[in-house]
Formats: sequence, C-alpha cells, structure tokens
Amino acid sequence: MQKILITGFAGFIGYSLVKALRDKYKIVAFDNFSKLSNYDIKLQRAQNLGVENPETFTSAQANGVTFYRADLCDMQALEEVFSVHQFSCIINLAALTGVRQSLNHPQAYIDANVKGFTNLLECAKKHSVTNIIYASSSSVYGLNEEVPYSEAQRTDKQMSVYATSKKANELLADVYTHLYDFNMVGLRFFTVYGPWTRPDMAAMIFMKAIHEGKPLQLFNEGKMVRDFTNVQDVVKAITLLLEKMKQGERISNEVFNVGNHNPIYTIEFLQAIEKAMGKQAIVDHQPIQPGDMPVTNASTEKLYSYLGFQPNTDISEGVKEMVEWYKQYIASNSAINA
Ligand SMILES: NC(=O)c1ccc[n+]([C@@H]2O[C@H](COP(=O)([O-])OP(=O)(O)OC[C@H]3O[C@@H](n4cnc5c(N)ncnc54)[C@H](O)[C@@H]3O)[C@@H](O)[C@H]2O)c1
Repeated sequence: MQKILITGFAGFIGYSLVKALRDKYKIVAFDNFSKLSNYDIKLQRAQNLGVENPETFTSAQANGVTFYRADLCDMQALEEVFSVHQFSCIINLAALTGVRQSLNHPQAYIDANVKGFTNLLECAKKHSVTNIIYASSSSVYGLNEEVPYSEAQRTDKQMSVYATSKKANELLADVYTHLYDFNMVGLRFFTVYGPWTRPDMAAMIFMKAIHEGKPLQLFNEGKMVRDFTNVQDVVKAITLLLEKMKQGERISNEVFNVGNHNPIYTIEFLQAIEKAMGKQAIVDHQPIQPGDMPVTNASTEKLYSYLGFQPNTDISEGVKEMVEWYKQYIASNSAINA
C-alpha cells in the first residue's frame, strides 16, 4: 500500500479525506490544531478519527493512520516526519483559512500558508517526494469579472492576504516543478460545504442561527453567486488524481478548478438549508464585505477532460445530508455540555 502525507487532517476537508482514504492508503496525517480558528471542532474531528487525546498528543496511531500534531512552520518537526516515512505523494490541505480573518492576522496567514508550504516543498525535495497535490482557492481569481472562471485566465489581482497566500503557493509550485522536476497539482476549491463544515463558513453560520432562532447576517441581499461544492466531490477529485499519480502519470504543474459549475445565489443556499431544517431564518441584511467576491463560478472543463469527473452533487441532496449531520452534531454536543 502506498504511503501518503495529508496535512490539515483536523480541518473540514482534511478530515473527510482521511476518512475516505484510510482503507486505500497508508496515511500519515499532520495538523497543528491552530487556535486562530475553529479549535473545538478540530479536536472533535480528530477524536472521531480515533485520536484519543487530541488536545495533548504529539503523535498517535488509530485505524491504520499515523497522526502528528505539529506545525508546518516547525522545520525540525517536519524533518522528523520525513525521516521516518517515505511518501509516494503529499496532499497539502493545511492552511489558515478565511478571507476576512486573513485581514486581521496577515503575518500568521503568510507564515502558515507560504512559509509552511515552502518548508513542505523543501522536505519533499530533500526526501525525493515529487508527487504533490495542494489546495489553492477560487479566491485567486480576485476581481476577475469574466465568468465562469477558467484556469487560462490571469490571476494577478488578489483581494485578500488569504488569496495572495494561495497564489503564492501556485507560484512556488511553478518554481519547484521547473527546478526540481516535481509533479504538482493545485486545486482551486470553490465554497465547499458538507458534514463537519467549518464554523466560520456560511453553511454552519446559517444552520446554527436557524437552529437557535437567532438572526443571521446575509450580505449583499443574498445576491452573492457561489458554486457551492460538496465535500464528497472534492474528495472524489483528489482520489482520482491520486490514482493517476499512482499509475505514474506525469502532470508536471497544473491547476484545476474544483467547483460545482452550477452557481446559485447565497439566498438560494439559505433557502435549501431552511427547507432541510424545516424552519425559517431571521435575516439581518448587511452590505457586501471588504475582500469578498460578488461572483465565484468555476469552469470545470479542464478538470473533466483530465479526470472524466466534475463535481455534480445536487445542492438539495447535499444540503439535506449536511443538515442531518448538523442535527446529530448539536445533539451530541448538548449531551456533552448537559
Ligand atoms: N473549505 C473551502 O470552501 C475552501 C475553499 C477554497 C480553498 N480551500 C483550501 O482547502 C484547504 C482545506 O480547507 P478547510 O476548509 O478544510 O480548512 P480548515 O481551516 O478546516 O483546515 C485547515 C487545517 O490546517 C491546519 N493548519 C493551519 N495552519 C497550519 C500549520 N502551520 N501547520 C499545520 N497545520 C496547520 C488547521 O489547524 C486546520 O485544521 C485549505 O488549504 C483551504 O485554503 C478551502
């Protein structure tokens, strides 16, 4: 069985990926449980994956997965991991996430997302791991007005520190491919939703407010256009890419949009959640926020022509599944807190 490194395992997408791949690959999972955002749910995700003491462990084994709690900025910790394990592929999902939050903590975002990624690339170089899949973001399209966004468009006008850090990852990937013959794939994810979503994302904010009967803020009258992309579609795209790499396929350095290509208004997403929860939201209308993009809509032609797959989960089905998870999550948390 091939061994892969997944960073950001305590995060939303990393958690779902580890769960999906742990029977197919030997997985080494890495996360620093950054306290800058969503700390408690990271502990819960790790516990669900079998980590017994997520708050205090430094390394652990569970369900065939080896877990490390360490920081990508800590080169020594990374070196230790690479000296023990020989990876066939690295999947870098670790990052500080969130556009708005990046405006409050710019240095921390550059550290985790740019310095951390560079450390990972240096370890990969030293230990001859050339297959790397890394998370980029739809936010690199910045102020581009031509939709759907295609990978051929220029992406040199970012609107946040977060987006800039993701663009920097793509540029670093160019450098390492060019100089060291790496085989790299950058995935530009578009607004991912699903079970175990992040508490700072609209999906969770909407579900929580509706559940608690509290007002929720809706920006730009809910007229923000998004390609809400189901997390299982993201997992599937990564799984297919891994299989191609496993078969020795050379891709050199490419970026792909991973989006649903079925854009809807945020108000429609809210209505789908209301329907699944059987309860109306109390809406507090707010203007568009600095750094937010009014429209993000992916062309998935490139992804489809390479993988024969594009995200296609029906929004009402995906939202229904997420709401079912949320109800269980709330019930188990209130049982713990009771
Ligand atoms: N969720 C989305 O809609 C979305 C959209 C576009 C791009 N992305 C990208 O996909 C990836 C995963 O996103 P997510 O939603 O799961 O985010 P997340 O915040 O839930 O997970 C990221 C994880 O990385 C970890 N991390 C942060 N800095 C670290 C460091 N220095 N060392 C080790 N671990 C560190 C965090 O603790 C967290 O558990 C990220 O790179 C993100 O930028 C996500």
